[in-house]
Amino acid sequence: MSERELFIADVGVERFNNDHKRLLFYVIEFERLAKRFQERAPFEDEWDQVDSLFPRLDKYTHEHFEAEEALMRQHGYVHLEEHIGLHQQLIRHLRQLEHDVAERRSEAVILLESFLLDWLQTHINQDDRKYKGCFEWAETREITEKALFNEMISVQHLHRAIELGRPGLVILDLRTPVEQAEGIIAGSELFACDHNLLDRQDTEPFRQSFGARFDPEAFDPEALHVLICRSGPRAAIALEAFQEHELKACELIGGIQEWVRQGYALLEMG
Ligand SMILES: [Fe+2]
Ligand SMILES: [Fe+2]
Repeated sequence: MSERELFIADVGVERFNNDHKRLLFYVIEFERLAKRFQERAPFEDEWDQVDSLFPRLDKYTHEHFEAEEALMRQHGYVHLEEHIGLHQQLIRHLRQLEHDVAERRSEAVILLESFLLDWLQTHINQDDRKYKGCFEWAETREITEKALFNEMISVQHLHRAIELGRPGLVILDLRTPVEQAEGIIAGSELFACDHNLLDRQDTEPFRQSFGARFDPEAFDPEALHVLICRSGPRAAIALEAFQEHELKACELIGGIQEWVRQGYALLEMG
């Protein structure tokens, strides 16, 4: 079995990716048995091994298909019915092979290996992969709605939204050019304000600097703006202005400091 044959596509949901990797275990086990069944008449203990694998494969299949279908239903996946049909086909095929194994037809074990390989390459790598976009879109929407409601977003959620391609999300870095030169979150837009608000008692210089640049007309009323500063106070001031103009916005909790503290990378500015 070459590495290329064993490639398993990322379907965008960690639990399903792990499930799919578990299918490899069955592929390898049945491949081992199929080789022996091809060489000579199988021993009874080898049939016992096949018999013991089947209930586990059955349970795995039903639980995995149920979980996939439930999530597709939850997110209104447009190809749900078609996908359920493909799952049913796989189950029917598996039942047939199970029946043949019960009748001690050794070719069923050989067919089982190629059936599982085809499941991996056709169903997982092609059909399952198609729902990736739907689930990712739903996840981004969930992150965005939560951030808008709470008026803040955690660094983990922002990182995940960036990973997902952040549709509808604008990341605005409000720090000074000097701070930005030390590194920014990749993909953020620079909205440099001159005052770093180190003296938190006197917010006026920052307000003035921000107010001089802020043009509400320049922002997309549909997008969610993630406001970023060093640790939070400047983003809080900017948030008021965005909200006054009915623009969607939230603060990054803990700002760049928290982003770095949690081990996320900054993009160096040339
Ligand atoms: Fe799957
Ligand atoms: Fe599936």
